[in-house]
Amino acid sequence: MIGQRLIDELNKQLTRELESAHTYIAISAYFHSEDLPGFANFFMVQSDEERFHAMKIFNYINQINERIKIGGIEAPKNDFSSILDAFNHAFEHEKALTTKIYNLMDIAAEEREYATISFLKWFVDEQIEEQDLFNGIIKKLERIQNDPAAIYMLDSQLAQRAFTPPAADSAE
Ligand SMILES: [Fe+2]
Ligand SMILES: [Fe+2]
Repeated sequence: MIGQRLIDELNKQLTRELESAHTYIAISAYFHSEDLPGFANFFMVQSDEERFHAMKIFNYINQINERIKIGGIEAPKNDFSSILDAFNHAFEHEKALTTKIYNLMDIAAEEREYATISFLKWFVDEQIEEQDLFNGIIKKLERIQNDPAAIYMLDSQLAQRAFTPPAADSAE
């Protein structure tokens, strides 16, 4: 039987995923203001991903017949000093989220809530992927510095990113 503390923490994580969607939609807006539509697209897709994460938790809490509660979210950071600054902000955000997922896993383990441990495993793996994604782009940005041609190429690449929820693992 799942404990109230774990349900509360799952609900907080649901809100944090919505907050992440908020964070990335703001970064997308920043890139539009910098006339970098590919970067803007990349973060819009990232925002969609975060809403997908939120809905996964929403559906899980619903599935175990517990009460979903949506919390308030803070205004995100809207202004950045550079492309790299925006990516570093996103990377730091993901690292903080990984810590939160680990805390949730600790509580689920304390409660010996095996169903929730199994559910959370997807998030543990997803955090690795996301950190790797941001870290990879940061490394590229550090290498290309402010070379306009390279930034233009990267922008064209990032314009290709599309949101595709995993078919066998949908939020439904
Ligand atoms: Fe997420
Ligand atoms: Fe994320």
